[in-house]
Amino acid sequence: MDNQILDYLQKISNLTEEKMDLHLPPSENRPKRLHEAMRYSMFAGGKRLRPALAYAAFEVFGGEGEDIFYATSALEMFHTFSLIHDDLPCMDDDDFRRGKPTAHKQYDEATAVLSGDALCILAFELIARTGIPECTTTIAKALGTSGMIGGQIIDIESEGKTVDLDTVRFIHYYKTAALIEASLVLGAQIAKAPQSQIDAIQEYGKDIGLAFQVVDDILDIESTTEQLGKDAGSDIARGKATYPSILGIEKSKEVARELHDKAIDSLENISGDTTILKQIAHFIVTRLH
Ligand code: IPE
Ligand code: IPE
Ligand code: MG
Ligand code: MG
Ligand code: MG
Repeated sequence: MDNQILDYLQKISNLTEEKMDLHLPPSENRPKRLHEAMRYSMFAGGKRLRPALAYAAFEVFGGEGEDIFYATSALEMFHTFSLIHDDLPCMDDDDFRRGKPTAHKQYDEATAVLSGDALCILAFELIARTGIPECTTTIAKALGTSGMIGGQIIDIESEGKTVDLDTVRFIHYYKTAALIEASLVLGAQIAKAPQSQIDAIQEYGKDIGLAFQVVDDILDIESTTEQLGKDAGSDIARGKATYPSILGIEKSKEVARELHDKAIDSLENISGDTTILKQIAHFIVTRLH
């Protein structure tokens, strides 16, 4: 893996963690156990990809100022909220996340549910602090029934069923790509990029977002719990609708490569230095966890 992109991800991860620490309520404050659970999930690790995407978009469009860090912290909170709930017994029922016991295993179900809720609500507060109303709309759409939550419910409803490729594409686009796309759009909106440029980066986001979930499906089969830091083989165990379950592994890898290439083509429409965005696209399809 190219060191430049790993260094970039590390840099954004450090910056985001520093800010998140400031925004998250201290564990010593009541309700202590809930605050501790929020911090447990937020600081368990993670690639911090969504903050990196927002920051990269912000940089491409020459953004200035500190407001971008409201978005980077918020995005990681929204994403972690989705993971905490995704792992619950009523959803994917998984035991490991980011190399540690899942929130409901470490604490209890009520604490896990409420810590996810609290992270989502805190994140909306941070988005509001950017003072840009469009940012709230972007993220609300990406998380709601036309986004993450919409994808998650069809994912659950499709368990154990034979669904067509169109349905899996729907699930993957909604549950995962929508937030990835929104991360880029937020960065662009905070940088005050013109609408045509926001549209162009959104197009790139759609494809890398879908590629990201296709690769997630492949890794669930080809990798180990140790390497992933989360339960490998979980999709087959639950009869999930995934790309490999429909197309097989090799064809799924081909789809991920095609989506990567399409994303790179969309960057042609962006005026600015898109080197990091190219490297992120490559990282997404070659990552091992
Ligand atoms: C996992 O996301 C959930 C999906 C949307 C596939 P990540 O692979 O980005 O998880 P972390 O943040 O690195 O733990
Ligand atoms: C989860 O998809 C997507 C969201 C959390 C919204 P998965 O269920 O495949 O994610 P992992 O594999 O548990 O990380
Ligand atoms: Mg799931
Ligand atoms: Mg899951
Ligand atoms: Mg998965």
